[in-house]
Amino acid sequence: MAFTGAGISVESGIPPFRGEGGLWQKYDPESLDIHFFLRNPEASWRVIREIFYEAFDKAQPNAAHVALAELESRGVLKALITQNIDNLHQRAGSRVVVEFHGSARTLRCVDCAESCEASQTDLSKLPPTCRLCGAILKPDFVFFGEPISHHAYARAFLEAERADVMLVIGTTGEVMPAGLVPRIAKSKGATLIEINPAESNYTREITDIFIEAKAAEALPRLLEALPAS
Ligand code: APR
Repeated sequence: MAFTGAGISVESGIPPFRGEGGLWQKYDPESLDIHFFLRNPEASWRVIREIFYEAFDKAQPNAAHVALAELESRGVLKALITQNIDNLHQRAGSRVVVEFHGSARTLRCVDCAESCEASQTDLSKLPPTCRLCGAILKPDFVFFGEPISHHAYARAFLEAERADVMLVIGTTGEVMPAGLVPRIAKSKGATLIEINPAESNYTREITDIFIEAKAAEALPRLLEALPAS
């Protein structure tokens, strides 16, 4: 299986959260705290629109996303757990994708739970409001201080327990509980192959094979190295 983080989307033009050029150097993560959002929806939405919706519109899947979709279609990759909310894995053709932190694709009303596509919603006036009841719409991704969906949690941990090899791509392993996924796989005997241009919290602790490279360079070469199925 594969476990991906923001680093796999860097070559699609979406900055990571941490490290050089990281979003948390420019924006205060507080804007994505659920309590801040509910008290200051307009201020929070201004950051959300700039970080996620303006950047995502321009982003295209890169060679790393495409290589993972190809590994799935060859039957090699059984599941992909991502921390990303940018929908690039699905746009590259991956079908079995568990979005541990939800997705920016849809918005949901904080009162009546009516949901709508972000791409069909006018974000020129903030905060966007529910067409049914007029309450505030919230993106369907997990804010700081919010729980992970039970389905995502259970499915991610189940796949980690079953993995014989896990590709760990583009993640610092900083954020919990997502960061536990590779540790669970390792504890159940999986071989961990990490792809990252820099060391992460996993590299010296649980990584078996460290490919010090950008994902869009390493993954196509990994694909070439596989016997043609
Ligand atoms: N290819 C592969 N990895 C890369 C690349 C690249 N081209 N460029 C950067 N990286 C690596 C960095 O070295 C770093 O280890 O991607 C990682 C990015 O780390 P983070 O920004 O912390 O991303 P991530 O680990 O996914 O963050 C987890 O934190 O803010 C929350 O919810 C947010 O899902 C996110 C979570």
